[in-house]
Amino acid sequence: MTITWEEAEQRLAQAAAALNAAGTVSATGPLHVGVDLGTADVVVMVLNERGEPLAAFLEWAEVVRDGVVVDFIGAADIVRRLVAKAEARLGVTLPNAATSFPPGTDQRLSTNILERAGLEVIAVADEPSCVAQLLHLDKAAVVDIGGGTTGTAVVAGGEVVFSDDEPSGGRHIGLAIAGHYGISFEAAEQRKREPERYGILDLARPTLQRICDIVTGHIQGQPVERIVLTGGTCCLPGIAAVFAEELGLPIELPGEPLLLTPLAIASLGLNPTSDG
Ligand SMILES: Nc1ncnc2c1ncn2[C@@H]1O[C@H](COP(=O)(O)OP(=O)(O)OP(=O)(O)O)[C@@H](O)[C@H]1O
Ligand SMILES: [Mg+2]
Repeated sequence: MTITWEEAEQRLAQAAAALNAAGTVSATGPLHVGVDLGTADVVVMVLNERGEPLAAFLEWAEVVRDGVVVDFIGAADIVRRLVAKAEARLGVTLPNAATSFPPGTDQRLSTNILERAGLEVIAVADEPSCVAQLLHLDKAAVVDIGGGTTGTAVVAGGEVVFSDDEPSGGRHIGLAIAGHYGISFEAAEQRKREPERYGILDLARPTLQRICDIVTGHIQGQPVERIVLTGGTCCLPGIAAVFAEELGLPIELPGEPLLLTPLAIASLGLNPTSDG
């Protein structure tokens, strides 16, 4: 199933409104669960049968780093906790879920965590490819800039023709901020949320340029006419202009980049042909 950009924006706004909202909502019909195990946070999102978000729970946690699970038990505990919150909100049991992994890494990294959390894995695909499958894209690259990694998927002719992942992301921007101000990484993450006050775009620019170099390498020789940005790092105001300048391609940035990848993962369950 693919949706238009406008539909994606609507669903992202719904997901943002539901984010970490505990209040109950009634859910009828089949539900679709997605689990995004990131290097910076874990997100569980639940969609109704039309693909609209009903529940979304996020916990900041470093359970994966550079394609390696650093805390397997902790990750499974977080997934169980977030699924329990979604179950309480919706008044249902959620027995299965779709999940994702960085391109070029072993998908069992994620599927083992879900199984440990007691979930049956019903669909799995790499992160940028999930987004590429959800949006109606052609000759485009999805670039997912998360906490620890940047993943690219190129879509052409309705197929994902390329995907790859490199360890560079928001974490490196956090380290640059921490170094510049002589503060802890955690304090730097806070300042990142006040970009104008702390001149974050200028501090982030070298990392963003390195990420653009990575993307240039990824899309070399590929049929790419535009770039779709996703991932929490793309919340940084001004990032689209940096990408447009560095890559010389039109850039599309959703209103809620932190939630697009989780939405796309949950949407895998809507697509009967996606089995990884
Ligand atoms: N408002 C914001 N402004 C700037 N950066 C932000 C904002 N919100 C979140 N981030 C950054 O987004 C990153 C997390 O994004 P995301 O949730 O997409 O990563 P992840 O999926 O956990 O990581 P990965 O995909 O690398 O495994 C963190 O580095 C965080 O600092
Ligand atoms: Mg991610």
